[in-house]
Amino acid sequence: MILRATHLNKSYQDGDRCIDAVSDVDLMVRAGELISIVGRSGSGKSTLLAMIGALTKPTSGDIAIAGERVWELSEKRLADIRRKEIGFIFQFSSMLSNLRAVDNVALPALLGGESAPEEIYARAHDLLTRVGLARRASAFPCQMSGGEQRRVAIARALVNAPRLLLADEPTSDLDEETEEEIIALLEALRAEEGFGMVMVTHNRDLAALADRTLEMRQGVLAPIDARGAEAPRPIRPIILPAPAKHEPPATAVFEGARALQRLGANLWRMVGRGGLVAALFFGVALLSNAGIARYQQFEIEAHRTRLAALEELATSTLRSDIASIASLGGDRYEVTVYLENIKREPPIYVMSPSVRAFIQVGTGWQETTLSPVADATAAVLKVTGRQLYRFMLETRVETFTELLPHYMHVRFTNDMLVSPESTPKDELFQRSDNYFVYLKPKDVADETILRDVRFPGAPPLWIWMPPH
Ligand SMILES: Nc1ncnc2c1ncn2[C@@H]1O[C@H](COP(=O)(O)OP(=O)(O)O)[C@@H](O)[C@H]1O
Ligand SMILES: [Mg+2]
Repeated sequence: MILRATHLNKSYQDGDRCIDAVSDVDLMVRAGELISIVGRSGSGKSTLLAMIGALTKPTSGDIAIAGERVWELSEKRLADIRRKEIGFIFQFSSMLSNLRAVDNVALPALLGGESAPEEIYARAHDLLTRVGLARRASAFPCQMSGGEQRRVAIARALVNAPRLLLADEPTSDLDEETEEEIIALLEALRAEEGFGMVMVTHNRDLAALADRTLEMRQGVLAPIDARGAEAPRPIRPIILPAPAKHEPPATAVFEGARALQRLGANLWRMVGRGGLVAALFFGVALLSNAGIARYQQFEIEAHRTRLAALEELATSTLRSDIASIASLGGDRYEVTVYLENIKREPPIYVMSPSVRAFIQVGTGWQETTLSPVADATAAVLKVTGRQLYRFMLETRVETFTELLPHYMHVRFTNDMLVSPESTPKDELFQRSDNYFVYLKPKDVADETILRDVRFPGAPPLWIWMPPH
């Protein structure tokens, strides 16, 4: 048994009204089983799904996922269970727009940090192939159709090989043909991967594909048989009046989230059409829908995901080191630092890079003068491919530590803020690099050095050192 939910209740307080969204629901899902849930808008399907996915705590009742009673676990363990045992496919497209398809798929696994990125990307590519998107791995969400985006969402939901897949009306916004394709795909994947699945759908034909079909009615879940004839339902008195159902946002919290995303785009258009009243009403109704709380939860999750993506961008996609050092005579040197975006596109923006130089003296480091030459002074550097930035170094030190005889041990630090945007708001990653070199000081003769160090030719001006 992968899921065992017993006596689940969820009530919402809406002003002075109490809404019983889910009432005394029992639901068991065996490994590999497909269960479909149908029901009218507002009947409590999304609330139930959020509870069995351990996203929302029930008002009362018990949920065990893979044998563990989830609300008795620590936050960390609960987060682990959510990530590893459960895959979600939401009604709205939840792709991160600044990431390629393959990165979107890989992210939930990268966040877990338990496998090597190469393995994760191999699985992500494999899943994209299996959902028919082998050639679209590098496409960005805006370049993909609705059906393609849903396929990416499916691949992403499966990247951690969950035992339970929860899908909330995964095809409701797709045309009929695409809907059929997506369902066939989910079925093929379920046969291969063996996950159990609970699917909420408005489409009774789809529902009939399931091992069991259940119907939600005003918070009560009861079986119906595949031919659509209803089994007897428990009779429950409805004590509180159900909320009015005519307003658009009262449908579902996930729909609410989706509408909220659309709201920004549509609001001004509606206003332009003289629909100000409608727009405001819609906005207010949406805000009063407590589904927003859950939307915010997704937002936070999405934010964490974006930060992880940014970290990946800032740490692995951006490389930086000393490219070359030339002598300008005396104790002055021209130091060239490179920044390289190994993926070339899209650009990475590096804000206010601050490069400093230190020379080892005794066991400490003494800072010395390093000034940027024109091109390195820009506040924001746009990095595509490999770019070079020049600095002038003056090594004004009397004595220095000679780890390598006669050479100075020089450390450069580069503190930068990295972002995928040229005008970032909160998406900034701070990165600090250290580069190390041995540098030949002024007025030491090559013959002197060669007496102590056996270089094959003339002693080089500088020697690159790995970071240490
Ligand atoms: N966070 C919430 N706060 C208050 N009421 C809610 C909240 N989420 C859902 N509801 C209400 O609970 C009922 C069931 O909603 P939902 O589970 O979204 O239904 P469905 O997915 O079947 O459309 C609806 O009356 C809805 O307005
Ligand atoms: Mg819903």
